Amino acid sequence: MNMNSSKEKHYVVAIDGTSGSGKSSTARIVAKELGILHLDTGAMYRAVTFLAQEKGIVPVDAEGLKNLLSDLKWEVDARGHLRVNGRDLSREIRTDGVTAAVSDFARIPMVREALVPIQREIGLRNPAVVEGRDMATVVFPNARFKFFMYASPEVRAKRRVMELKTMGQEPDFQHVLANLIERDHIDSSRQHSPLAKAPDAVEIDTSGLTFADQVAIIVSHVLNNR
Ligand code: DC
Repeated sequence: MNMNSSKEKHYVVAIDGTSGSGKSSTARIVAKELGILHLDTGAMYRAVTFLAQEKGIVPVDAEGLKNLLSDLKWEVDARGHLRVNGRDLSREIRTDGVTAAVSDFARIPMVREALVPIQREIGLRNPAVVEGRDMATVVFPNARFKFFMYASPEVRAKRRVMELKTMGQEPDFQHVLANLIERDHIDSSRQHSPLAKAPDAVEIDTSGLTFADQVAIIVSHVLNNR
């Protein structure tokens, strides 16, 4: 782990990609190896979805959403975990109910306009690996490092099934695959900040890569060019 130069020099590593491309787990370990913060922006959209569902707010309820968003206080705790209104929602945001609804909340301009300034503030205050769909294109267009990760839908669905099993759930492969294809479609075709590769991002097809390979490609690229 290299803590020194990251403290001296501020830099952002932006990682975008499709759901289940291995982004989140890769970003977490890359951040650990570089000794910098990991910001999972998908977790922020998931947290908004969970909190809306908790309050019975549906995506078309603009007034309800506006009130919810204006009430949220985001912070990164000492362990690097994101908290919203003092709550660590890491488990709650990974349920099927949140996963199925999150694209419908993430496509709403009001939701993105509330979250993007917070993402920028966190990323500009700390050297960070920021991960999502629009990191290199919209949120951090000047990021020093940009990566775009993807994999075939079948490979991604298999990975998601394994991930959900480790969390004690019993997912159905076809259901997971259909949900993933549907989310890809919503994420890439929405008007506001669609999932897209920045022209200057390094593309990584993770279909045939091991997890260790994915991490090594990004870490070595950053260390060699920092
Ligand atoms: O990466 P994930 O599956 O946890 O993302 C959850 C949802 O949030 C997914 O539908 C895409 C959306 N998202 C987004 O629109 N912009 C981001 N920067 C991150 C995630």
